[in-house]
Amino acid sequence: MSEITPQKMLKKRKKMLSVKTNFNLESLNTFKLESTCAFYSEISHVDEVKDLNKVLTQEPQLTSLFKAKEKVFFILGGGSNLIFRERIHGLVLKNNLKGIKEIGCDTTNAYVQVASGEVWHDFVLWCLDHGYFGLENLALIPGTVGAAPIQNIGAYGVEVKKFIHSVRGRDLLTSQMRELNSLECQFSYRDSIFKKPEYKNFFITEVVFKFPLLYEPEVSYGELKEFFKTHEVSPRAIANKVIEIRKEKLPSLDFYPNVGSFFKNPLVTQEQLNSLKKRTPQLVSFPHGEKIKLSAGQLIELAGFKGQPQGAFMMYSRQALVMINQGGGRFEGVMTLAEKVKTKVLNDFGVILEIEPDIW
Ligand code: EPU
Repeated sequence: MSEITPQKMLKKRKKMLSVKTNFNLESLNTFKLESTCAFYSEISHVDEVKDLNKVLTQEPQLTSLFKAKEKVFFILGGGSNLIFRERIHGLVLKNNLKGIKEIGCDTTNAYVQVASGEVWHDFVLWCLDHGYFGLENLALIPGTVGAAPIQNIGAYGVEVKKFIHSVRGRDLLTSQMRELNSLECQFSYRDSIFKKPEYKNFFITEVVFKFPLLYEPEVSYGELKEFFKTHEVSPRAIANKVIEIRKEKLPSLDFYPNVGSFFKNPLVTQEQLNSLKKRTPQLVSFPHGEKIKLSAGQLIELAGFKGQPQGAFMMYSRQALVMINQGGGRFEGVMTLAEKVKTKVLNDFGVILEIEPDIW
């Protein structure tokens, strides 16, 4: 009896997970798709992640999902790279973990540990204010810090993998903690180990970033290169320019709900490119390791979809790679347009487009 003081009791209650049922997710996805989930909870402390497997035995619906080997846990950050079905049967966990910690330096790098629920762009601004440079090319990307390694976010000549030292998290089924170094994360273009099925229940809790002490600005990307021929380069100047380009090219989430690039830019061989260019000489291409990256936006534009509404959805008129929801759209409408685009691009160019955001 005496063991549990009123203070301990309150602390215990605070730690208990409050689970809501039939929760509306429309305001929690930047595509504004109409969707509900069976169970919903918010995670504000790392300790709450530890005991999540207990809900599996407490909630029969979740138990049967687990037994049927279906996905049980859906970890939600900013909801900016997700396509929601109308009904999500598992438990959606909104990640509200916060905190930024300066760890220190070795001879080559400075290190910062960041809780996964921090807003990505706010962290980029924090870095600029505190002398950690390199992420400025990734300014204004929507979403959270925890989502950044999953798809290895990239823009304007930089991929986040260059600045990731390690990723820490917990498998929600086994409750086991794991820390992966940058190599173990298996980063590649818009991809990482965290997209593999064996990581589908992995809750990333912290990301440790490394910042080379020797700062080398990255301004090789077309529009940045042009601008900085006549302007002084600095981390803040790069951030400002990137913000300006993104605001001009990419549709505002407030007016045109979207999930950023809808497809990955396809990778082809030099031979494929040569034969494509015979028929379509204006195709743009960029070297990407041993392969060549084509512009999915250009292929979609050439296929005739740019600015052409199809029900509630449309490939955006200023950047055909972005699908926008013009209001009241649902999962089925997204997939109908996506399939049309994929089929036409395949027929016209023999190129397979792959959807970039995750589908829940
Ligand atoms: N283009 C067209 N028509 C279009 C769109 C693009 O012809 O409608 C051509 C243009 O020639 C342009 C080239 O494609 O020069 C590249 O376009 P852009 O610079 O806009 O980049 P992107 O390849 O379409 C990628 C990323 C973006 C990132 C930008 C800038 C992917 C899937 N997308 O887009 O990332 O911001 O480069 O680095 O790799 C995201 O992932 O959500 C995202 C927005």
